[in-house]
Amino acid sequence: MGTYSIAVLPGDGIGPEVTEQAVHVLQTVASHYGHTFNTQHAFVGVAAIEAEGDAISDATMELCQQSDAILFGAVGGSPRYEGPNAKIQPERALFRLRKDLSLYANLRPIRPFNALLNASTIKAEVLQRTDLIVVRELTGGLYYGKPSEIRDTPQGYDAIDTLIYTEAEIDRIVRTAFELARERRKKVTSVDKANVLSSSRLWRRVAERVAAEYPDIAFENLLVDSCAMHLIRRPASFDVIVTENMFGDILTDEASMLAGSMGMLPSASLGTRRTSHGLFGLYEPIHGSAPDIAGQQKANPIAAILTVALMLRYSFNLKREAEAVETAVERVVNAGYRTEDLQETGKTIVGTQEMGRLVAEAIA
Ligand code: IPM
Ligand code: MG
Repeated sequence: MGTYSIAVLPGDGIGPEVTEQAVHVLQTVASHYGHTFNTQHAFVGVAAIEAEGDAISDATMELCQQSDAILFGAVGGSPRYEGPNAKIQPERALFRLRKDLSLYANLRPIRPFNALLNASTIKAEVLQRTDLIVVRELTGGLYYGKPSEIRDTPQGYDAIDTLIYTEAEIDRIVRTAFELARERRKKVTSVDKANVLSSSRLWRRVAERVAAEYPDIAFENLLVDSCAMHLIRRPASFDVIVTENMFGDILTDEASMLAGSMGMLPSASLGTRRTSHGLFGLYEPIHGSAPDIAGQQKANPIAAILTVALMLRYSFNLKREAEAVETAVERVVNAGYRTEDLQETGKTIVGTQEMGRLVAEAIA
């Protein structure tokens, strides 16, 4: 019976509605297993820009620091804060959380439910037995490299972004992948573009050095373009994929289609900081704010709900509770309930809130 503190940052678009269902499921776990989850809500993204003048305020950063874990919805999607001339980007909230809290390891597990194999655009026989996890480096590379700017030159504008990685940054993320592989099927695929990029050549050198320390784990290097192809050609052959920030961003949107919908995929962002319960972490669905369907009960809350399962597992060491959430989701999907993104003939379409209620009910 533990007491845990959680900063809840619902954000923008469908963020608030899916987060509400995630919190509902969390509180159901609390009453069922006798835990106390103290949640404190705060603004983030466009909501924070409008209420507090910045994508995330210092006070909210402080709240996050003081919590055992952070539950995050989605940010962005307002035309007023988009485009090259926007003064404050809502995404800045995410970048600040990731960087300032040193959450360098972003875990994105992809295990399509059997009942959803036909919901994917990929053939069911290709998807069968797919169970992989992408370990995306989250606090380096192009997202943070300086300089990053558009420049006015006598020949016209040019623009630059910087892809920089230190040996230490590569070493720690590759190690995370190997440690995870030990608990899984013991295979690591390191993804780079070593035939073109210097940063990737260093990446590969460090990855191979770390791999030598894990003789019990099978290891392969794959070029990112080839990985993009093999992800839909032989997804079941992967176990742990480790890669730099932007490659990981792109490959995980692709990989989400293996699970039928972006609305199914949770993620955990971890560092090395420990609380009295487990690893401090930020938990967010990989989908965005989807403003086109916001407020219409159309959003799939399953990614947000599965995000809670990851929080229970990594930040609170509540393995049984994490599995209870995952099993509940699978049971509801097996029973034929679907949100609109997973529409299939003969299935029962339900709204966001109803899906959350069904999952909570399957736990209780
Ligand atoms: C993700 C998202 C973010 C990213 C966006 C919203 C900045 O796509 O978490 O994958 O690129 O990291
Ligand atoms: Mg992305």
